[in-house]
Amino acid sequence: MERTLAIIKPDGVRKQLIGAIIDKIERAGFKVVALKLTRLTKATAGEFYAVHKERGFYGELVEFMSSGACVPMILEKDNAVADFRTLIGATDPAKAADGTIRKLYASSVGENVIHGSDSIENAKLEGAFFFSTQDVVAMHA
Ligand code: RTP
Ligand code: MG
Repeated sequence: MERTLAIIKPDGVRKQLIGAIIDKIERAGFKVVALKLTRLTKATAGEFYAVHKERGFYGELVEFMSSGACVPMILEKDNAVADFRTLIGATDPAKAADGTIRKLYASSVGENVIHGSDSIENAKLEGAFFFSTQDVVAMHA
């Protein structure tokens, strides 16, 4: 069983979409195996998105990701990483497919309500960024 790391971003929490988004995720067959409400600092948000350090939008991204509470989750499913990227849709909600979480709920490329890991390797690193081994509850069948 594969795992991915998702984050309901601060805009999703502000818009009171935690329940609606988790509903979509569970209906799509993902099992939540770790979850919390937390708030990133500028330092931890910058560390999480360090791969984008040289990009023009990095400062804005760090400001936004530290602007309020967020909900990181580890999700389990066959083919979790790729299937979750399909479920959330394109980075720019205007380009996201119908029925995807970003198409339904996101307002702009900068504020796009949800994060999903882009590879199995990054899913492991990002999962460990937010959760310790004890936080991850193995799901029964
Ligand atoms: P994420 O990592 O959050 O799941 O998003 P992603 O893979 O779809 O997109 P990525 O290229 O990794 O970019 C990370 C986040 O940076 C913000 N962004 N803003 N203003 C812009 O042009 C721009 N481009 C990217 C978005 O919040 C994006 O999700
Ligand atoms: Mg990304």
